[in-house]
Amino acid sequence: MEYENNDDDRVLASESNPEEIKHEVLLRPTDFSEYVGQKKVVQNVDVMVESAKIRNSAMDHALLSGPPGLGKTSLAMIIAKSIGSELHVISGPAIEKKGDLAAILTNLGPRDVLFIDEIHRLNISVEEILYSAMEDYRLDIVIGQGPSARTMQIQIAPFTLIGATTRSGLLSNPLRDRFMAHLHFDFYNHKELAAIVGNNAKKLKISLDNKALELIARCARGTPRIANRILRRVRDFSLVKGETQISEESVIKSLALMEIDNYGLDRMDRKILQVIEEYYKGGPVGIETLCATLAEDRTTIEDVYEPYLLKEGFLLRTPRGREISQKSREHLLQQASIK
Ligand SMILES: Nc1ncnc2c1ncn2[C@@H]1O[C@H](COP(=O)(O)OP(=O)(O)OP(=O)(O)O)[C@@H](O)[C@H]1O
Ligand SMILES: [Mg+2]
Repeated sequence: MEYENNDDDRVLASESNPEEIKHEVLLRPTDFSEYVGQKKVVQNVDVMVESAKIRNSAMDHALLSGPPGLGKTSLAMIIAKSIGSELHVISGPAIEKKGDLAAILTNLGPRDVLFIDEIHRLNISVEEILYSAMEDYRLDIVIGQGPSARTMQIQIAPFTLIGATTRSGLLSNPLRDRFMAHLHFDFYNHKELAAIVGNNAKKLKISLDNKALELIARCARGTPRIANRILRRVRDFSLVKGETQISEESVIKSLALMEIDNYGLDRMDRKILQVIEEYYKGGPVGIETLCATLAEDRTTIEDVYEPYLLKEGFLLRTPRGREISQKSREHLLQQASIK
């Protein structure tokens, strides 16, 4: 039993796509003053950066975890900039061989920041290279095989590893333990998102009234990347309509076009809740069964959709599986009555 699944153009997907990256570069906060919210994370990072400057050495390694689109990459860029060092960005699954990572590590300059995105997806043999690199700024490389194999040690520059992950639970213990700081990103509140939308509207030279701004903030699923995406869609909508200033009404209309509801849930979010309600009488239903019915990959459901649904109390996680809440039932009914 499969549920129809055609959400390729999902507006709320919090992962970025290549075409979006060029916009993100423009909208990235460039220093701490522009970086809104995540107070705890920022306070910790600030101390680590200042300490590194005083010690005149590399900042300690930090692990950033949390759902996609909450500002992990942006923060890494700000850190590198404030230390005055170079940032090297790589993605965990893209590193296939030990040698690839070794080459990257030996090319780092003193105090450089190496940012590894999706670090939980690093191949285990590649990951092992990081242990001595993080601890002693040293690479242990085995040359040859069998009895004639020997270990060669290469010293590398003192560097900072910043790992980003949507799943810190999937990191191996030896790797996790080598990070001095574990910083968790939370969803943003409406006020913080409104501030981000306001700043980014200025950068995009978009003029919008307060109500319009607040509505975008409320419907952005706690995620700046989604707020940016809605902002750009709304801009397109009002450009076509010939508006000079974006009104709340335009936002309402474009949100409807995007099938985003008043809680910021989109088609896929509602589909998850609906499937549990209609096929499984509200649950509990095991995650594997649920994903099979939705024809979705388990990681996507768990990393991208569930965190927000759980946080807002639409979805409940029980030992016997996923259940929907009373709030969900009421919301689904309300949505159905709008249609
Ligand atoms: N704290 C913030 N203040 C202002 N803007 C932010 C903040 N966090 C994120 N943004 C905006 O959201 C966009 C996406 O953020 P970013 O790419 O840093 O997220 P991410 O956590 O690295 O996501 P992913 O896990 O998918 O890599 C940025 O381009 C920026 O415009
Ligand atoms: Mg990122």
